[in-house]
Amino acid sequence: MKKGVVISTEESPSPTRVDFVITDGVVHQGQYVEIDSPQGRMLALVEDVIKTNRYFGQPEVVREYEMRSSMSQNFPVDEWEFLVGIARPMVVWTGEHTERPTVPPSPGAPVYDPDPERLKKFLGFKEDGVNIGTLQFHNVPVTLDVSRLVQKHFAILAMSGAGKSYTTSVIIEELLDRKPEQGRLGVVVFDVHGEYVGFKEPVNDGTHRDYSDRTEVIPIDQMRIPVPSLNAYDFLYFLPNLSSAQIRELDRIIHQLREEMDAGNGPYGLEDIIARVETDPKIKENMKIPLVSWLRSLEATRLFDAVERPSVESILAPGKLVVFDLSNTVDAKKRQFVVTYFAKRIFDLRRMGRIPPTLVIVEEAHNFVPSERSREDVPARGVIETIAREGRKFGVGLCLISQRPVKLSSTALSQCNTHIIMRMTNPYDLNHVAESSEGIDSRSERMITNLRPGEAIIVGAAVNFPVFFKIRERRSVESKYEKDLIEMAKEFEERQKRVEEDLELL
Ligand SMILES: Nc1ncnc2c1ncn2[C@@H]1O[C@H](COP(=O)(O)OP(=O)(O)O)[C@@H](O)[C@H]1O
Ligand SMILES: [Mg+2]
Repeated sequence: MKKGVVISTEESPSPTRVDFVITDGVVHQGQYVEIDSPQGRMLALVEDVIKTNRYFGQPEVVREYEMRSSMSQNFPVDEWEFLVGIARPMVVWTGEHTERPTVPPSPGAPVYDPDPERLKKFLGFKEDGVNIGTLQFHNVPVTLDVSRLVQKHFAILAMSGAGKSYTTSVIIEELLDRKPEQGRLGVVVFDVHGEYVGFKEPVNDGTHRDYSDRTEVIPIDQMRIPVPSLNAYDFLYFLPNLSSAQIRELDRIIHQLREEMDAGNGPYGLEDIIARVETDPKIKENMKIPLVSWLRSLEATRLFDAVERPSVESILAPGKLVVFDLSNTVDAKKRQFVVTYFAKRIFDLRRMGRIPPTLVIVEEAHNFVPSERSREDVPARGVIETIAREGRKFGVGLCLISQRPVKLSSTALSQCNTHIIMRMTNPYDLNHVAESSEGIDSRSERMITNLRPGEAIIVGAAVNFPVFFKIRERRSVESKYEKDLIEMAKEFEERQKRVEEDLELL
């Protein structure tokens, strides 16, 4: 269908910008159009739509008329209102292959609605890919190639409340719904706020889909890091201040304990290491005291034990979701240790081929892989950055979710080759994302601040060109993680009333 005609202005048409006047219906910011150019059929993204009216072009004239009567009483102003679309050419289809646009279309050339099938091909959608929504204004499903999305890592970036976790849930559903012949991944979420525990809820309400049989939720108080599998250098992840002399001593003691274990003494725990350090005659007092106190600080988290829980190797399976629910603690260190140990474990097991290819999702990623500039040294950073750099070789995909991209490690962010961006208004974050995302210019930047709930832009490896789309409705049940303040207040009073009633009965 014809939508308009290319017009001639100072800046347009050029191979990078084509302005057109809209002659039929409406054209929206964010939609695509096709234009014939000497190279072939050109696909362009409408980055802006502007209304113009010559009658209102000169402020002094408008003011003069409005003071006496009004512009519309004196002139046919309605007939002179035009919609002008500003489009960015993305690619040209020559009939056999695609080319970069290098020649503009002619002024006067008709502008059309794009052909849906060609649009899918242009944008790089894959028929049985991850369906995360529909192209706005085109009714074309956005189906992303799983390998391109997951293997090269992706980031979901938006301000708080913009729908990051919702979008992530949609992607998880898609991965869990894949059939064995399509290739299935394991999915792991480090869930800081308990936003994914809803996947474990059995449902049968006719509207939601039940994922409970494919989901395992592990609350943080049931997680254990196995001490016998840690060597002295692994302790450095948890205790970055260990000196090399302390590591040497720790190494010696761990070797002793391992030998005894192999001789049939059974697994040992942190308390055994501490006892050995305390009684070891070779360790000097001034080294012993800090070492013991650091080890005790680990012990206090109650995360360390003789055996691993959950057993990563037995819990991770193709088409299955494992939620590490970190919501039930305020201890940031404990969360760090969990992410550090289990992310590394997943990476190691995958390298050995003992678990299926896996997507590791990290919520609030800026807390686990903070920017290099930030002073705090967080344990999880090293392992997440390792996965970001080397995960693709071994089939470990990474998804980093953050509302503060500025605070996110640029090493890690730059390894996320696809960015899914939702509404973001903070200029620092926006700027950072624009700088680190391929294909975002100042116009798309403005579009990001204007996105509404449920709308997103995706750029990078998973698509051939930036794509604006509407996220599809989720099929899984949303977790009720955030209690309403008034609900909490009512709950409190009810409980108090019950206590009083109980007292009266006495
Ligand atoms: N695409 C969407 N369609 C409908 N509701 C949405 C959508 N995205 C988010 N929401 C709603 O908006 C609220 C915030 O979404 P959430 O994913 O928790 O945001 P974030 O993780 O970015 O803080 C939730 O109540 C969620 O249900
Ligand atoms: Mg969230």
